[in-house]
Amino acid sequence: MTATSRSKFALRGDLLDFTADPGWGVEPGAAVRFRPDHWLLVEDGVIRGAHSSDAALDASWTRIDHRGRLVLPGFVDTHVHAPQLDVIASFGTELLDWLNTYTFPAEQRYADPHEAQAGAERFCDALLAHGTTSAVVFPTVHKVSADALLAAAHARGMRMVAGKVLMDRNAPPGLLDTVDSAERDSRELIERWHGRGRLAYAMTVRFAPTSTVAQLEMAGRLMREVPGLYMQTHVAENRAEVEWVRELFPQARSYLDVYHRHGLLGRQAVLAHGIWLDDADRALLAATGAQIAHSPSSNLFLGSGLFGWRALEDAGARVSVASDVGGGTSLSMIRTLAEAYKVQALQGVKLTAWKGLYTATRGAAIALGLDHEIGSLEAGRLADLCVWDWALGPVGERRLAVATGLHEKVFAWMTLADERHLAEAFVAGVARVRRDTG
Ligand code: GUN
Ligand code: ZN
Repeated sequence: MTATSRSKFALRGDLLDFTADPGWGVEPGAAVRFRPDHWLLVEDGVIRGAHSSDAALDASWTRIDHRGRLVLPGFVDTHVHAPQLDVIASFGTELLDWLNTYTFPAEQRYADPHEAQAGAERFCDALLAHGTTSAVVFPTVHKVSADALLAAAHARGMRMVAGKVLMDRNAPPGLLDTVDSAERDSRELIERWHGRGRLAYAMTVRFAPTSTVAQLEMAGRLMREVPGLYMQTHVAENRAEVEWVRELFPQARSYLDVYHRHGLLGRQAVLAHGIWLDDADRALLAATGAQIAHSPSSNLFLGSGLFGWRALEDAGARVSVASDVGGGTSLSMIRTLAEAYKVQALQGVKLTAWKGLYTATRGAAIALGLDHEIGSLEAGRLADLCVWDWALGPVGERRLAVATGLHEKVFAWMTLADERHLAEAFVAGVARVRRDTG
């Protein structure tokens, strides 16, 4: 981890962020704020404003000149598993077999404090190297893995929402807790981390099949008791999984309803996937304010299904985007958006660059209740910033050279760029990643 801290600097580049949800149109309306060749002013880790590059800048500002590059707010990944860097790109299975064959065995390693710490640091550094400065993260069931993850994020100044995974059935013995041990560990971790620096704690129900009713009740109780807690889980990802939940919870109307019955849905709830939902589920998500973390590369890789983004949004529910590594195949939110475009294209819907990039920045910030801190280049927000090359190499360079119009250019970037395009990343104004750009 490298870090360079300057108390007052001006960053020059093409600034792109969003003042509101841009909708699904290609024309850049008022919600798209593109400020080519501007200085973004940062003081004490906070964005102070922006000036055109022609405007005079007094000598007190240290200049960081990235002219000709794209400056975006740091990406927000609303669903990712830290220990699953170990199983990314594992061959040949759908969700339930993938968990049993690859993921559960790998997660058992994180009972070891050394593995947990090394894994957490590797993961946080990798997130930053992919331009993700905020994330909602699963560690493992082991308290030490949650501790290590939150400590690693804290050391890097990152905004992170995470919590020890709850699972007291239907997994190997090395990955099981109990209602009592889970409550004790969760309370200790909440005490240590919730609200500390840029961290918040999430009650982390792995998914309905791996928690007993008593454990779900315990999670709901803590959600009511501790202000500001998040809840993260999975829902309706895979058809065999949905069928299993129906057998395990015959009294529930649907998979989503299992969480609702235990008081786990609300504005702080982040549920990954949400592919196999019905109208009543969509209405319930809208009524409770819970968000679906759409994970396109995972849904394609595990053959889970095609996410109905428009139906959910038309019902009034919130959608964010997520890598879901290791079901997902990359930590890059740019690659994730390129996959999201294809998932929608298969259903006749076209994801614009505006909608995609908004959802991965300010949209996620709003859905998480963190718009005051992250997701945009507004004055007053923390300076979580990423500087990207518009193109690297002849294919991207040529495509951008012939692009006419702003959407064509930004869409080509969203489709062709990746983490190698990251030139510099700042977290709360501290440079945490810097590529040698010559
Ligand atoms: N459902 C329960 N656990 C997991 C997981 O680790 N990844 C994915 N994609 N789905 C899950
Ligand atoms: Zn997941």
